[in-house]
Amino acid sequence: MHRLLLPGLAAALLMAGGPVRAADGPPGGPPGASSCTGCHASMKIADSVIPRIAGRKAADIVTFMREYRSGAWPSSVMGRIAKGFDDQQIEAIAAWFAAQPE
Ligand code: HEC
Repeated sequence: MHRLLLPGLAAALLMAGGPVRAADGPPGGPPGASSCTGCHASMKIADSVIPRIAGRKAADIVTFMREYRSGAWPSSVMGRIAKGFDDQQIEAIAAWFAAQPE
């Protein structure tokens, strides 16, 4: 049930990152992708603590998500988020982010 807490956390992180457009990217990404863009916005945000993933290689995004999920790679929030997605969903979301403009 951790995921229920995420909107509040996302809002807090976004406030720390300064003004941001909530909805971005072309509509119709795969299921789950819109839950990522709340934090990983496609717009460049100055001084954001959240790394940009739009335009990154899909394989890299998949690797990160698997390592966050297994706990092999330390994270503040991504471990909890990654646990909510299976491999198929992660691959679809990664492919979609890779196709977004950097
Ligand atoms: C609550 C805000 C939030 C949400 C929602 C979120 N992320 Fe993240 N993401 C972060 C933060 C913060 C980091 C830095 C690592 C950490 O502290 O967890 C990160 C790191 C990453 C990284 C590693 C990038 C790098 O260069 O280090 C990837 C890949 C990633 N997230 C993918 C995703 C995907 C895919 C989703 C949607 C399923 C998602 N994130 C949802 C906040 C978020």
